[in-house]
Amino acid sequence: MYKLIDGKKLAAKMRADIKSKVDEYKAASGKEIGLAVVLVGEDPASQVYVRNKIKACEEVGIKSYAYYLDKEVAQSRVEELIRSLSVDDKINGILVQLPLPRHLDSKKILELIPYAKDVDGFSAENMGRLCMNEPCLVACTPNGVMKMFESENIDLNGKNAVVIGRSNIVGKPMAMLLTNANATVTLCHSRTRDLKQKCLEADVVVAAIGKAKFIKADMIKDGAVVIDVGMNRDENGKLCGDVDFENVKEKCSFITPVPGGVGPMTITMLMYNTYLSATRS
Ligand code: GUN
Repeated sequence: MYKLIDGKKLAAKMRADIKSKVDEYKAASGKEIGLAVVLVGEDPASQVYVRNKIKACEEVGIKSYAYYLDKEVAQSRVEELIRSLSVDDKINGILVQLPLPRHLDSKKILELIPYAKDVDGFSAENMGRLCMNEPCLVACTPNGVMKMFESENIDLNGKNAVVIGRSNIVGKPMAMLLTNANATVTLCHSRTRDLKQKCLEADVVVAAIGKAKFIKADMIKDGAVVIDVGMNRDENGKLCGDVDFENVKEKCSFITPVPGGVGPMTITMLMYNTYLSATRS
């Protein structure tokens, strides 16, 4: 018998908790908490993400400042905006929605965000601190996954964890968080040999590959915990994860659904990071 980890429910509970913390902070300090969200261009998926981030701010009492820039905006204009947000006391967190249009130098733009306002946790300073297990702002999606383990009292101590996907946004920080939680971590990717064998040895599998239903039942050990970070469309255009959920679920002790699993946790952790930035500043 598997148990579903309900991300939607956990996210709602956490948002209520964050709201009361934000209210307390505002009452004690007399200040608002501000998140700047920068969107360049009109990518439909990015527009949805940004809309949801702004909605989440309203839900928890964080003031959002949205900057919608033309898709052809000059690099210097974006840099100027980030520089001014960096020194603005009203702004506790700065989020630049990715991907940026090709003509912009994303690395140069992201490097202008001071690490204390880097609520995405993407900066070298925050990533380095995470690697050294020091206080930092942690990338939202992997941090949300850790909250899911915690909510179900899943003990990671000494467990074999396999993370599939080595992105800077999910896979690498996920591997670090699991390592810091005393799991033995194997970080797999497109060049990994014997992926199936590695997965079969895992007590915990985190799939962040970006390929619809890639993880099959014959890759999963009985009783494993399976976390699906994927967000894809299947052959019928239906939203699905990286895990072949219907066939894999029976082998698991815990599994996350798509949608309604990791997704709702990401924006919740962004709210949490923004609150943390305010309290630490
Ligand atoms: N684009 C896709 N995911 C993310 C994210 O977590 N943060 C930002 N800034 N852009 C994204």
